[in-house]
Parts: sequence; C-alpha cells; structure tokens
Amino acid sequence: MISASDYDFFAAFLKQRSGLQLSNDKHYLLESRLVPLLRKFELADFARLAQVLREGGSPLISDAVVEAMTTNESLFFRDKTPFDDFTKTMLPALHASRAPGQKLRIWCAAASTGQEPYSLAMLLDEHMAQIGARRVDIVGTDLSSDVLERARGGRYNQFEVQRGLGVQQLLKHFSKVDDWWEVKAHLRAMVEFRKFNLLEPYHGLGTFDIIFCRNVLIYFDTPTKADILGRMARVLAPDGYLVLGAAETVIGISDAFKLLTGHRGTYVHHAAHHAGHPGKAAGAGHGHGHGAGSHAAPASSAPRAGPAGLKPPVKQIGS
Ligand SMILES: C[S@@+](CC[C@H](N)C(=O)[O-])C[C@H]1O[C@@H](n2cnc3c(N)ncnc32)[C@H](O)[C@@H]1O
Repeated sequence: MISASDYDFFAAFLKQRSGLQLSNDKHYLLESRLVPLLRKFELADFARLAQVLREGGSPLISDAVVEAMTTNESLFFRDKTPFDDFTKTMLPALHASRAPGQKLRIWCAAASTGQEPYSLAMLLDEHMAQIGARRVDIVGTDLSSDVLERARGGRYNQFEVQRGLGVQQLLKHFSKVDDWWEVKAHLRAMVEFRKFNLLEPYHGLGTFDIIFCRNVLIYFDTPTKADILGRMARVLAPDGYLVLGAAETVIGISDAFKLLTGHRGTYVHHAAHHAGHPGKAAGAGHGHGHGAGSHAAPASSAPRAGPAGLKPPVKQIGS
C-alpha cells in the first residue's frame, strides 16, 4: 500500500516531471503501474521507491516512474476526421501558400508507438501528386523511450494493424516480417522520432506548419494545457494548423487558435485569421490569396541553419 504522504509525493513528482495530473482516487492505478518497478529495481516497497525519488540520485528510476505512468494507447488513423482534414484542407492550403521549394514541417507531439506519424506518412505517400516535389518532414516526439523505440522499429502485430488500417493500405504500406507487419522503409524514412518532454522549452525544435498534439493534453491541468498551447502557438507558422484529440479543446484555455468551422479538433493559428485569411478559419481556405510568398514567411520556410538537434529533411516527396 502507498501511504497518503507518499501518494501526495508521487502525484507532485509526476506533475512536475510530465504534467500528469493524478487525482486522489488513482491509488490502484499508481500501485499497479509501479509494482513492476519495485521488482525491476529491487526495492522493498513503495516507501523505499518514494525515498529514492526524493533523494534524486537515480535518473534511471525517476524516468522509469514517469514512463510507467504514461498511457500510450494509439491506433492508425485514429478518429479519421483529422486525417481527412489533413489531405483535404491542410495540405492543399499549405501547398498553395508556400513557395515551390519550401518544405513543410509536421510535428506529432505525443507520437507514442508511431501510428499517428505513420498514418500521415501513408497519406503523404498516397497524395504525392497533390503536393508535387515538396519536401515534408514529420517529427514524432514523446516522453517515453520505450514507445519511441517501438515507433522507430515500425513493427506492429496483427491486432494493431487491424485497428484503423484497411487491407489495401496494409498491403501497400507494410511488409510481413515473421509475425509482424513492418512499415515500409521509405515511409519510416519520412519520420524522425526523438525523445522530448512537452514541459521542456520548444526553441530547439524549430517551427512547424502543422502540429498534431492528440490525446495528451487530457492528462494535464488547465494551467499546464494553457502553457503548452501558448508555446505551441509560438512554434507554429502564422497560418499553421493545430490538431487536438476528440476529447480536447482550446476553448477557455487559449485564444491563439481558431476552430476550423465544422472540423472538430482542427484549429488554425489565430495569426492567420487576423492576417486576412478568413477562408482558412471558415474551413474553405484552399489557396485563396495564398500564392507563394503572399504571407509572412513562416519560420519553417525562412532560411536558417537548421533546427538544433534535428536531422535535415529526410524525404523528397515526389522525387
Ligand atoms: C495516448 S498517447 C497519444 C498517442 C497519439 N497522439 C494518439 O492520439 O493516438 C499519449 C502519449 O503522450 C505521451 N506523453 C505524456 N506526457 C508527455 C509529456 N509531458 N511530454 C511528451 N509526451 C508525453 C505519452 O508517453 C504517450 O505516449
């Protein structure tokens, strides 16, 4: 059993390290997730684990506790609508508003085991004709090293591929390797995975045209959500898009984004709305007045030495 004071400590520790808000009724969840760590690190009980964390001498154990408490559930083309928005609204609008040589950058900010960024990579592969030879980078980040390792491997079991993928998509984009379905190499090369905590500063990431931040804000309290959304606004192009999960919203939390009318969960940066791009926020912004160079260049397309710590573009779409 975790004592009341240790429970409070674990809750505060998790809030500080990952943003996770643990309500007072999650004793069972906390204990069931932490029991394997007691065995793994040969600790006598939860009190000893709390003591190790308080002393702060073991980053390995601290990270393991944070990771153990994450919920990594994901599936391909989750909720479908955001992915329809991606091909029908976001890609055409961004393609029309960017100069031909400018790349697009997409950030999957809670990528988990990779289904979300690989869903986008499949769509880019299928819609090459729509965006011509434009380069697109997908950066998938997550707090958890374990899920990132799985994401990089790009291997999924039968159950996982059945969740969200049609047979044709499966056969087109995956190869069968033993009991696994492996994402084809050219799609894997389109996505760069890196470990990143959403509570950390964002300046090392560069800037993005689209941010998928889905099914992670639900775990945070309102000030944390507001802080994250505010910082995402600063790394999103003035006419960029933010996509949240079906149960998430910016309403009452951030006024930096405007809902794309009729597109639940898909927002356009408020800067675009104010800069005379109402078509975007009305959900009909397919290139009206968005000729190359017609808007303030997004930082992602401005010449720069390259975002610190990130690889250069990995895939030339259409090349
Ligand atoms: C439920 S999954 C969402 C996966 C995917 N976006 C989707 O919607 O299917 C949430 C992910 O957020 C990650 N996460 C939780 N807190 C985080 C933080 N502070 N920084 C980065 N990632 C975090 C977890 O490790 C987990 O993989």
